[in-house]
Amino acid sequence: MVLRVRGFEIHKAYLDLAAQRALVEALRPVLKVAPLYRPQTPYGKPMRVRMSSAGRLGWYSDRRGYRYVKTHPGGQAWPAIPAPVLSIWEALVDAERLPDCCLINFYDETAGMGLHQDKDEADFSWPVVSISLGDDALFRMGNATRGGSTDQIWLGSGDIVVMGGAARLTYHGVDRIRFGSSMLLPKGGRINLTLRVVT
Ligand code: SIN
Ligand code: MN
Repeated sequence: MVLRVRGFEIHKAYLDLAAQRALVEALRPVLKVAPLYRPQTPYGKPMRVRMSSAGRLGWYSDRRGYRYVKTHPGGQAWPAIPAPVLSIWEALVDAERLPDCCLINFYDETAGMGLHQDKDEADFSWPVVSISLGDDALFRMGNATRGGSTDQIWLGSGDIVVMGGAARLTYHGVDRIRFGSSMLLPKGGRINLTLRVVT
């Protein structure tokens, strides 16, 4: 089932349980090489999510601002984006131009993410594809500029959101997660993957 809300294309239950499990397995070695860390915002506050990346570039934030970088804060190159993740992009977006970055966000019991735009990429003609795994998340969608009305939807494990076209720069965020609502991750919590063409 595909829902369209504010230009976001929401593919409910796109991944079955076997596909979700395969993704979690494929992420394990990635997170071994590039462990989750807690970035600082440019304002010096720790982010509520823990983060890592796969791909040629990883999204990064510290006092110097938001940007894409070639290495994990530990100094190592980001691991390659796992094949089952790329297959989702190929099926929904394009088989030729693959994403440069797979940002990995981990939400624990108290994590969320404020309304923001994804605008650190040089090319907005490609969508951002977001894959949800684990606990449900209350996803909020706003407008192309800050403020105004918003809509919310619960994203479950296996749901995919394509943020493209007129919605590419639409404000979005995660109010909270429903901790323990999914059995996919043994210790609970939520993983969100966002696939991005950067340059
Ligand atoms: C993000 O906007 O980077 C993450 C969205 C989500 O966690 O669903
Ligand atoms: Mn975002």
